[in-house]
Amino acid sequence: MLSNNRSATVVILLTLITFITILSSAYISYKDVFVLGKLYDYSPSANQDETTNQKVTWETYTELLRPIDITNSTTLFNAVYAALRQASSDIHPIGLSYFPAMIPKGTLMYHAGGKDIPTGLEWLAMDHEFSYNFAMHGQRYGRNASNFNHHGPPGIGKKKDDASSEPPEPPKEFKWDRKHFLTFRATRDLNKMIYLDGASAAKSETGEMDTQKLLSDVIAYKMENGDGKNDNDDDQDNSDSGKKFVMAERLYAERICKWGMPFGLDGFIRVEVGFEVVLCDFLNGSTELVSNITIPNLNDVLGLPAPANVSKATGWPLDGEGKLIENELTEKQSEIMDQEDYWQSVLDEYSSMRGFDQIRAGIVHDSGDNRIQLDYRYLITGINRTLGDINPNNRRLLNDHFSFEQQLLLVNDLETSLHNDGFYPELSTNWQQVIDEIVDKFAPMIKMMDNILNPDQSEMTISQMALKTTRYTLNFVNRFTGNDNAVMISTRNSGEFGFGRQFAVYQYTRPLADLVTDSDYLIWSSAVNVVTEVVDTIYNIHDMLMPIVTADLGTKTSDYGEDKIDAQNAIKKSGELISSLISKLNWIALDYKCDRKCEWNEICYTPSWGPSPMSWAQPDDNSASFGMHYDETIGRKVINKELKCINAEFIMDYNNNRL
Ligand SMILES: *[C@@H]1O[C@H](CO)[C@@H](O)[C@H](O)[C@H]1NC(C)=O
Ligand SMILES: *[C@@H]1O[C@H](CO)[C@@H](O)[C@H](O)[C@H]1NC(C)=O
Ligand SMILES: *[C@@H]1O[C@H](CO)[C@@H](O)[C@H](O)[C@H]1NC(C)=O
Ligand SMILES: *[C@@H]1O[C@H](CO)[C@@H](O)[C@H](O)[C@H]1NC(C)=O
Ligand SMILES: *[C@@H]1O[C@H](CO)[C@@H](O)[C@H](O)[C@H]1NC(C)=O
Repeated sequence: MLSNNRSATVVILLTLITFITILSSAYISYKDVFVLGKLYDYSPSANQDETTNQKVTWETYTELLRPIDITNSTTLFNAVYAALRQASSDIHPIGLSYFPAMIPKGTLMYHAGGKDIPTGLEWLAMDHEFSYNFAMHGQRYGRNASNFNHHGPPGIGKKKDDASSEPPEPPKEFKWDRKHFLTFRATRDLNKMIYLDGASAAKSETGEMDTQKLLSDVIAYKMENGDGKNDNDDDQDNSDSGKKFVMAERLYAERICKWGMPFGLDGFIRVEVGFEVVLCDFLNGSTELVSNITIPNLNDVLGLPAPANVSKATGWPLDGEGKLIENELTEKQSEIMDQEDYWQSVLDEYSSMRGFDQIRAGIVHDSGDNRIQLDYRYLITGINRTLGDINPNNRRLLNDHFSFEQQLLLVNDLETSLHNDGFYPELSTNWQQVIDEIVDKFAPMIKMMDNILNPDQSEMTISQMALKTTRYTLNFVNRFTGNDNAVMISTRNSGEFGFGRQFAVYQYTRPLADLVTDSDYLIWSSAVNVVTEVVDTIYNIHDMLMPIVTADLGTKTSDYGEDKIDAQNAIKKSGELISSLISKLNWIALDYKCDRKCEWNEICYTPSWGPSPMSWAQPDDNSASFGMHYDETIGRKVINKELKCINAEFIMDYNNNRL
């Protein structure tokens, strides 16, 4: 609650932190956090006392699991897999969680905007290609110049079903105010950041912004009920709905930063094309300016004069929409336009590469933006708090099932996380590393078994299908088969050493550090549930198909081989098991890939949401967008499973065709 108590709490907290820092200046770890937690009774649900912390061993781990069903497990598993990855965040664009994050000291971040260091919160790109594209300016030339609409927010000039909103007037004298390109360096670990997963900078209304909206709404409520003030006035100034929506994202940011100040929140992180940070305070020494470049205008770099002043007053034939009427141009005007069209075509070469560079910088992070690190111990998620859709593209945090009381509780839990003296990713199990190994090892196996058992067309006999499938399962199962003799000889109790399905699951999901928080337990439990599903499927298919193989060997008397109906049935059932597993897992790695290997001048393009050099894709509008299709069943666009290679020429043609 943001009340008058706040300043008192801050003072006490600061005093305490200083005290502890003096006591153990070289050793601040989560032990100190416990001290803080205990004194203040924040401790709690998010922190487990180490002494009660039970060891996760192969024999006992199943007793330590937290209840979470398989759909919620895969949702959380997939969220951790996708965290801080560009393509995955766009493929599963709707985030449901708040990830504690840290940006290390020395990290460079970029801001295109005014010439001064921002006095309030502002956006910083993690890639300079991103900021540079944002900073670029310059007028257009030639016949299409009047059609050109700057990267505007959705709705600007063409908002549907809002009769009252006039298309905004193009600014008379367009002053580009983002040409100053400032580079900042973190002067300390920015270890109180919140990372919002999914395509969280999409500026859409289909769930991508829910984590921001939820937090902002709850904060507004707390402010109203705390110090009596509310800042809703900012909300109502803008009658134009397109404009209002853009403002909403700034309003969210303002509220989040204001709320976060007593916790020492540095800011939050989102993805657009490339990751970006909303830094709450530029002036308190957490960052320093290291570069200040005024980006030259491309027209000036090329030495081009200003474009012709095309208007009715200057004698140009324009139609009602302000477009040139070609067959009414004088010969002289036509020549001017020919010249300018050529100039524009040269400018397009450079600007399309500028957009391409930004997309490439984004795609570099398909494997992760490893400059940002996560402390999973203090993750706060809505996933196990609300009933959600099975389809990841249709599961949003702000749905009918998530009451405002539950939202308040979630924000309270987030506040508890933030009461730590900071986030320390190195003390956390890197769950993404654990989950990557699971996906990287099992995905090819699952995919191949599916190809064999559910072929589009196949020349294989039943026996061949059984043999080829068990090539994947036999060595797996063998690896975990208990050796009863060995157990007897060593006179140990059977079961003292690990083997079998339970041991297999344990091996793949073992935490890399002791589990210390509820959140750790929840992520681990999700991983266990997901891997159990996979391991059970492998074992079950193995048990069904192995008898076909051994019967074919002819070394054992078996009535199975003769019974072709059963064999056929075993294949059919195995095929069903593997399909069902694939649809339960919803792993991006199983479904999405490029249709070929891209050339040097190309990138494997995963479309993104929100503003992008490849236009502004709005999830809820069913107009054509490259690489996406509209899914009628859920009423939104989704990304095609087959990804395509594109080059800069493609971007140039695509954008010119849209003019
Ligand atoms: C950046 O450079 C511009 C142009 O030289 C200057 O006007 C401005 O004050 C500089 N900003 C900062 C923060 O130093
Ligand atoms: C810097 O500013 C942020 C945002 O206002 C605040 O949360 C944080 O505590 C400040 N840090 C320092 C060292 O003053
Ligand atoms: C363009 O022409 C109009 C009408 O003559 C004039 O008012 C305006 O100042 C001109 N603009 C520029 C940039 O020359
Ligand atoms: C996820 O967890 C919530 C809360 O415990 C539960 O209501 C829901 O049934 C679970 N499963 C799905 C698919 O939402
Ligand atoms: C969700 O998981 C968290 C972390 O383990 C736990 O504290 C909370 O009780 C769970 N909520 C539900 C509804 O199961």
